[in-house]
Amino acid sequence: MTKAFSALIEARLSRRQVMQYGLGAMLSAACPKAFAETKVSQQVTQGIRTLLGFKPIPIAQLNDEVVVPEGYHAEVFYRWGDPISDGPEFKMDGTNTSQEQAQQAGMHHDALQFYPLPQGDCHAKHGLLVMNHEYIDAQILHADGGVFDAPDNYTLEKTLKEQNAHGVSVIEVRSDSDGWKIVRPSHYARRLTATTPMSVSGPVAESKYIQTKADPDGKEILGTFNNCSNGMTPWGTYLTCEENFNDYFDLPTDKGLSAKQKEDFKRYDIKQSYYGWHNNDERFDASLHPNEPNRFGWIVEFNPYDPVSKPVKRTALGRFSHENVAHNIGEEGRVAFYSGDDSKFEYIYKFITTHAWDGTQGTHNGRLLDDGVLYVARFNEDGSGQWMPLVFGQGGLIQENGFENQADVLVHARKAADRLGATPMDRPEWITTDPDTYDVYISMTNNSSRGDEGQVERDAANPRNNNKFGHIVKLVEEDASSTSFDWDVFVLAGDEDNEGTINGDLYANPDGLMIDYRGVLWLQTDVSSSHLNTGEYAQFGNNQMLAVDPYNGETRRFLTGPIGCEVTGVTMTPDLKTMWVNIQHPGEVPKVLKQAGIKKSPSKPNAASNWPDNHAKGRPRSATVLITKKDGGIIGT
Ligand code: FEO
Ligand code: CA
Ligand code: CA
Repeated sequence: MTKAFSALIEARLSRRQVMQYGLGAMLSAACPKAFAETKVSQQVTQGIRTLLGFKPIPIAQLNDEVVVPEGYHAEVFYRWGDPISDGPEFKMDGTNTSQEQAQQAGMHHDALQFYPLPQGDCHAKHGLLVMNHEYIDAQILHADGGVFDAPDNYTLEKTLKEQNAHGVSVIEVRSDSDGWKIVRPSHYARRLTATTPMSVSGPVAESKYIQTKADPDGKEILGTFNNCSNGMTPWGTYLTCEENFNDYFDLPTDKGLSAKQKEDFKRYDIKQSYYGWHNNDERFDASLHPNEPNRFGWIVEFNPYDPVSKPVKRTALGRFSHENVAHNIGEEGRVAFYSGDDSKFEYIYKFITTHAWDGTQGTHNGRLLDDGVLYVARFNEDGSGQWMPLVFGQGGLIQENGFENQADVLVHARKAADRLGATPMDRPEWITTDPDTYDVYISMTNNSSRGDEGQVERDAANPRNNNKFGHIVKLVEEDASSTSFDWDVFVLAGDEDNEGTINGDLYANPDGLMIDYRGVLWLQTDVSSSHLNTGEYAQFGNNQMLAVDPYNGETRRFLTGPIGCEVTGVTMTPDLKTMWVNIQHPGEVPKVLKQAGIKKSPSKPNAASNWPDNHAKGRPRSATVLITKKDGGIIGT
């Protein structure tokens, strides 16, 4: 840490201490602040206590289970195919219909968030769990696989089932004398899918870029998909992030596209569908409907407490592969929303609201997300950085350079950021903000292409060429509304032989990040199955979750996942005594098993993993895992 950087942190800490009792307290989300006893970060900073208090666990090497430390209990809570309310039941042979799938948990659970009930309260025993279902594995979803497994049997019904396995779940959960259960039936239970009607707001609403044959006014979009991670607004709504939306569109020919459309598609990698929906649902053929891809890649806001509320795509926050979104509140109440674009050499963005949040809960605050400025980050070699505005008419974002108006700048935020000279990063994934210090942590999961011939070389903020193992960058800002920042590399992941700087248990490819109310940084990993358990990645074992003390970097392994999974998504009740963690895509085949001849197929979906059911004719299922401490205490401390 540079001297200037640590001086800035110290100055900010003392300002935060003042703010806790002043305007900052009034403007902060009420819930976490009600649990003052959990706010130990100041004491930790002063060396009064350590943050982590559990015995770390060893790596897992191809064990097909979830493991947590001594004294903790983990149980499977909500699996793909489990009903959101009172049915229908999951069928182990993959024969649930598309309509049934629309009333069941989607596939590939990602980020999740606990919302206390009643709304506006801080209850830790009753609430809603809201979570994303990022994508699907068609070999596991259908009895005979997807478009690539059985091309002659790729029906509209299969496309609909795949669309209904995407999106978001809302379930009601309650703890009584038997422990935590899903409340069934529940009038809160809801699924958003790839066909749910959503409105559009902000500068892109009604613009020509999103007008289609089915929606000539550009006012209503059907669905959300590739919902990776999430965010929560200070006013209590849920934000779901559309990540790799390009994978859903096919471009059989570019005849008929304008030169600008061709260039825009190239920048957003719109060329080939991984799913084949265009065979049965014409809007996914981008040659026939070239504006349809412009209707995805946004952040979507909805109110989970209102089961009939219409989600809103908030276009002022820009269009790119949004991994997640995290916020900070400035001294004057303006709110900053940070979001990374998870692709190699893409950028980190921040949106600052024009108006201050008034401190109340409720969806009427959502309009704050329509009026503000989107910025992109430039990291300087000396540890300083700038947020550069994506505003039409400024910084070369003008007609002579191919930008037509503000809507064009936001739809093609990547191109605008290129023009401004933003810093290409090593796949920015999750961002989390420290609720006490407001420091911003960003995981860069990996970038094996950095330094390759013709590619961008390493720089201070992305300091390793062929960055196999990833790293985390920390930003410190004077205020959420600042347009400059200081930064440092918080940690380089991986072992010491590869310049890793981890203080404690080893991991690679940081992805999920969440700083809880008391200040523990929970870190989740996503080593790709093309490396998992193999060669120099074997030392990290199965994917995992660790707890990190952000003040001294101490790192302890808390959870290991089953075979082939990534661990992604974590939330806790306000008393920090209940935690839910999502396990995504168990059953992918780690490289070492592929080398041994193990192959997953529609007739053998459980070739690599049979978690969590361990049913002889079963299929691996992404699932939410419930974690408690056996003595009922606070988790992690
Ligand atoms: Fe959905 Fe970049 O992880
Ligand atoms: Ca991720
Ligand atoms: Ca990832």
